[in-house]
Amino acid sequence: MDNQSVTPRIIEIPRVCDPRGNLSFLQRPGCMPFDVKRVYYLYDVPCDSERGGHSHRRLQQVLIAITGAFDVNVDDGTKVTTYHLNRPYQGLYLPSGMWRTLDNFTSGAVCVVLASEIYDEEEYVRDYDEFKSLSKAGRTEAKPENKKKHYPFLDLGLVNQPYKQAIKDAACRVIESGCYIGGPEVEGFEKEIAQLCQVPHAIGVSNGLDALRLILRGYIELGRLRYGDEVIVPGDTYVASVLAISDNGLVPVFADVDINTKNLDAEAVKRVITPRTRAIMPVHLYGRVSWDEELAKIVKENQLLVIEDNAQAIGAKSPIPGLYGTSMTGGLGHAAGMSFYPTKNLGALGDGGIITTHDAELARVVTALRNYGSDRQYHNKYAGLNCRLDPIQAAMMRVKLPYLARDNKHRQAIAKIYNDEIKNAAVLLPSYGGDDCVWHQYVVLVEDRDGFRKYLLDNGVETGVHYPRAPFDQPCYEEYADADCPNATRICVECVSLPINSSMTEDDAHEIAAIVNSYATR
Ligand SMILES: Cc1ncc(COP(=O)(O)O)c(C=O)c1O
Repeated sequence: MDNQSVTPRIIEIPRVCDPRGNLSFLQRPGCMPFDVKRVYYLYDVPCDSERGGHSHRRLQQVLIAITGAFDVNVDDGTKVTTYHLNRPYQGLYLPSGMWRTLDNFTSGAVCVVLASEIYDEEEYVRDYDEFKSLSKAGRTEAKPENKKKHYPFLDLGLVNQPYKQAIKDAACRVIESGCYIGGPEVEGFEKEIAQLCQVPHAIGVSNGLDALRLILRGYIELGRLRYGDEVIVPGDTYVASVLAISDNGLVPVFADVDINTKNLDAEAVKRVITPRTRAIMPVHLYGRVSWDEELAKIVKENQLLVIEDNAQAIGAKSPIPGLYGTSMTGGLGHAAGMSFYPTKNLGALGDGGIITTHDAELARVVTALRNYGSDRQYHNKYAGLNCRLDPIQAAMMRVKLPYLARDNKHRQAIAKIYNDEIKNAAVLLPSYGGDDCVWHQYVVLVEDRDGFRKYLLDNGVETGVHYPRAPFDQPCYEEYADADCPNATRICVECVSLPINSSMTEDDAHEIAAIVNSYATR
């Protein structure tokens, strides 16, 4: 028998991948750390249920999410670490003397437990105070593990894995319904998103760019915007924000961003306002709310339309209410466009988008515009487009939506670990707030970006760059190349995105922070 390890750890279970289906196995010698005397499993666990709440004097365990996902919160007497289990080829090894609770079970999740002892009530510690005193008496320092690990930037297969069966069921439901355009799944999803964004209207569309495009077009149809009007947009954003403006014959005017929040800087906005400015597009970039007292004041004084680009911040909450008194992104201004591109916090398995608005008139116009401009069948009030949300995508996202708040909390926990633990003078961290950021990306600034990325990759950490080129620096926008946005330019040159997603663990974040700290400039 092996000496018992004192630290919980994730065990990679070998996989044999085969087109007929995969096979995983635990064996000794091999990855199985003890001889198994008992196997049991938990299933049909209600999502809001908590299991566990004890520790063991002798018994060791390996827990595996055979299907679905759940969290295991492990208390070693000094700190609690949460492990998110969601892969049949990974197990959590729990030595004795660890207080554990299991929660956040997804529907259909099955947890298999392999144990080193047969059941013996004497061996359980069910009183937390007793556990604390035992763990204090027997505490041993954890030995650091010295193995090379790979930290993917984002593995969409893993992100969707916990929902795989439910997603397939949802798609089959649509296939069997015979309703392939619009219908109850789209309508149900629209209601759920409207509720989340605290708005009366949500209109499903084909993608995030079309959502923004249709909002601006809708305001043109309503006479509230005219071709040639100026729309303020941040210098640091994904190019789609700007494409929506120029596509409608409106003029994008770039305002610089704040170097910490990476969002619109109110002073910079004031500098670019002209008598032709009619609208502003705050982009909640990287998941952080772009709305504050100063911006609200500028909007009111200049009677601007506010079109939020909410592609990256679904579920974020503004510290101050928006124009209609609500505080969730997507409901802060007159209208908002959201994207369900697969990498987003709520990602479709293809393209998808939605318009959210407090404005009933706009809702009516964009509902027609997304459907050839028809206000009723075979009657085209507007020369519209075909920009509808696919019901299969709506049905699949309805499976994931109930877990969005939990996933956003997980992103916040990872960002907090990075912010608390990364201490490296070469790495400028983003500021950490609270619910105002759902951390679509965690972006740091590093002067020697290439050197830093290479160092991280050599140590197993994949990173991203969002974005390497400002929109005003793109070949298609040559006429805006002289935009005065020094912070946006600096961000494009120095930005590096660290992994942050629902399928990584908090342990991964601690380890990545340590790797970042070991980076030294030459
Ligand atoms: C800030 C921003 N705006 C707009 C979009 C466009 O969304 P989509 O890719 O769904 O068209 C994206 C997404 O890629 C984005 O990140």
